[in-house]
Amino acid sequence: MGRRVFQLDLTLMPDLDSIFAPQGVIKEAQDLAAEAFQADAAYFIVNGTTAGIQGMIMAVCRPGDKIILPRNVHKSVFGALILSGAEPIYMPAEVDSELGITMGVQLDQVEHAIRAYPEAKAVFVLNPTYYGMVSDLPAMVTMAHDYNMAVLVDEAHGAHFAFHPLLPPSAMEAGADLAALSIHKMLGSLTQSSLVVQQGERLDPAYVKTVLNLTQTTSPSYVLLASLDIARKQAYFDGEKMLRRTINLANWARHELNSLPGIYVFGSEMIGRPGCASIDPTKLCINVRGLGLSGRATEEILRRDWRLQVELSDPGNVLALITIGDDKKSVRKLVSAFYDISRRFFERSLKERELIVPGIPELALVPKEAFYADKRPHEFKAAAGKICGELIMAYPPGIPIICPGEIITEEIISYIEELKQKKTWLQGMADPTLEHIRVIR
Ligand SMILES: Cc1ncc(COP(=O)(O)O)c(C=O)c1O
Repeated sequence: MGRRVFQLDLTLMPDLDSIFAPQGVIKEAQDLAAEAFQADAAYFIVNGTTAGIQGMIMAVCRPGDKIILPRNVHKSVFGALILSGAEPIYMPAEVDSELGITMGVQLDQVEHAIRAYPEAKAVFVLNPTYYGMVSDLPAMVTMAHDYNMAVLVDEAHGAHFAFHPLLPPSAMEAGADLAALSIHKMLGSLTQSSLVVQQGERLDPAYVKTVLNLTQTTSPSYVLLASLDIARKQAYFDGEKMLRRTINLANWARHELNSLPGIYVFGSEMIGRPGCASIDPTKLCINVRGLGLSGRATEEILRRDWRLQVELSDPGNVLALITIGDDKKSVRKLVSAFYDISRRFFERSLKERELIVPGIPELALVPKEAFYADKRPHEFKAAAGKICGELIMAYPPGIPIICPGEIITEEIISYIEELKQKKTWLQGMADPTLEHIRVIR
């Protein structure tokens, strides 16, 4: 690690300001971040976007308040529902059955949910989804604001949007009230460092800050804080140039990969399909079904034979992120790997039956009640009709299949059994073999 990182690893003292009530250098850095991300206020977070998302939801929802959100949200949102006591109103996420991935939400679904639950306090959306699908956020914001609902955005994968005109609108550009951004994912800060940004009059910044302070560590790392400031500076001054190169590299790789037998990487042809108003071109969702390979097996080949690590794999795809950290060499290596994989595996057609992602199960108890209720183990295969006591997800991307408080169905049991057979990494359950599931007594 070298010495420097330890020399920089200071903690709270007057000259270094306080993250809890910034007046000095942290305030200055946060104000610069607000300007760079086109917001009225920015708050540094050192516990990851997870803490930012928890803070955003707790800042808007009190126990029992309703919040409208798509089903394909990250697991941090389920933590936020437990902490806040909010009641989720799920909108079904569109699924592209050819690719086997979830899309964004459609405007008419948002409208339907808002009209059905006009008392809801907020609409929560992803910008973009893990796979780079972007919903029509500006229109959603107008719709939600007409009903006096706040718009909260998980922008974990969209921190770069504000810095290039060819990228989709950022949450702030779209008019959202609050957004949580993983600066450590798509821009250059260190892991765990994130940003919450705010604009408009709907929410009181002092209250938002008070809530964010609830979960922020009292020992914030100045190495992480400084890395946020440096990443902001880099994005503000050089972001457009770096992102132009990134987008060009990603488009080149998409074109090359699409010329290979058995491989498909979606691009702008998706725009206009249900749940896709635009896409993030820097994400390459490489579909390998035509090679007779699963995404998981492809991830293993890339690691073992090519020393390449992708962001995630699922039954049919691997997701490669092209970022400002990439160059021609790294992107060429990815393309060369797929030249080789395509040559070796094409012809072996995929015999496997397509996996149908089950619908959203019925909610019997709100997440907080379910979390605190008494539970007991129950044989998994015979658990249909029981109220689930744990959260089960395929990880990555960390999208839950069933959550605490929801009723287990036969459809969910057979879906999970198939994922087990495909050796998909399942997480969240007390029994890692999932022979038993914890249900509510
Ligand atoms: C969509 C989404 N939201 C939120 C998070 C949480 O971010 P962090 O890991 O910074 O806590 C992730 C992490 O992967 C994510 O994919």
